[in-house]
Amino acid sequence: MPTVVLGISGSVAAYRAADLARELMRHGFTVRACLTDAAAKFVTPALFEALTGQPCLQDTFEEPDRGRMAHIDWARQADAVVVAPATANVLAKLAHGIADDMLTTIALAHTGRLILAPAMNPAMFASDPVRSALDVLRSRAAVIVEPDEGEVACGEQGQGKLASIPQIVRAIEGVARAGRLLEGQRVLITSGPTQEPFDQVRFLTNRSSGKMGSALARAALLLGAEVTVIHGPQREPLPMEAHRIPVQTAREMEEAAFAALPGHQWVVGAAAVADYRFAQVESGKHRRTGEPISVTLVPNPDVVAGLAHAAEPGVRLIGFAAEPSSELDVARRKLAAKGLWAIAANDVSVPGIGFDADANALTLVFADGTVAESGRRSKLECALFLWETCIARQLNSQS
Ligand code: PMT
Repeated sequence: MPTVVLGISGSVAAYRAADLARELMRHGFTVRACLTDAAAKFVTPALFEALTGQPCLQDTFEEPDRGRMAHIDWARQADAVVVAPATANVLAKLAHGIADDMLTTIALAHTGRLILAPAMNPAMFASDPVRSALDVLRSRAAVIVEPDEGEVACGEQGQGKLASIPQIVRAIEGVARAGRLLEGQRVLITSGPTQEPFDQVRFLTNRSSGKMGSALARAALLLGAEVTVIHGPQREPLPMEAHRIPVQTAREMEEAAFAALPGHQWVVGAAAVADYRFAQVESGKHRRTGEPISVTLVPNPDVVAGLAHAAEPGVRLIGFAAEPSSELDVARRKLAAKGLWAIAANDVSVPGIGFDADANALTLVFADGTVAESGRRSKLECALFLWETCIARQLNSQS
């Protein structure tokens, strides 16, 4: 049975969490409730223990199983963690990684997508701090179940009422289901820049930070995949749960990717692989003479095209096209020339997206000519868009 941790924070709407718990159980979930101290002013642990048949946590140091850290156990075992109602205080804490009670500690330790159903006074909900906390949380792929319009407990009208129970249940089911979309499947990702040495201290590289590759890895993990990332010297950290293989040059990336390829059902080429390398690498440090120098660059192997050539039938290969315009002609040509199943074009001439940015905007072009657009979003949201669109297409083509 899938397990959901139901976090309840201190809003008058806390009483509706009892109905939510019952409804989730009717939908086949094991429900484990966790209250903040403020929530316990409105509802009691005894109520949720009686309803769910499970211990209800409140204090950070509670351990229903002695010797086991409940916040880690609960976070790991949960197919979904929801906070309903989520107050302004809890949203701000979650956005900033503050974990000062059992609920926020579980939420921080959970590696899946959080589901947050805010409930508060409309002026609080419309305030800049709450808006920006929600933006941060969305960019980290939290699912926000928007509050309804209407009269709230203080008598004011506006958006702030906890969303309906069916809406919250649908969001939880969506996250729990999505968490299994890539279950049992293996994903190979290339990420970051390569560095092509000129001598012992200098190299040719590009502005790739590895943020897109890292987001693709994290999104694939959220959907239940086993993930391997072959990455150049990138600044962005990669998820700990991914199998990470560091390389420096395009040729090392090619070698590592070919060795890793067998057994993977999905391959994504997000790396900005240097197209050329120095024909000769000088040993030591090239000395300055004041005279011009000429160097010869030779083409590097095309890693993703080589993988497409070598892959077993049925492996889905998705490339990226970093283009300085929104025109798709070149992306389409790359898709065909490299023998890919799909290509994600990103317009790297637009400020704030593409290389070294936190956001991106992908146009997914499939081999049959169809196109899907993510719109401008955080790289993690773009990565989820890519996976969900590709998985839906794959399922459609099988049915
Ligand atoms: O890392 P970030 O800062 O987050 O930036 C993300 C990104 C802009 C690097 C990413 O979104 C992106 O566009 N990656 C591909 C960059 C690129 O090299 O594009 P390309 O159009 O030159 O290459 C097309 C495809 O061939 C890509 O899948 C690339 O990985 C692959 N390729 C290219 C050359 C080569 N020698 N080997 C390859 O595998």
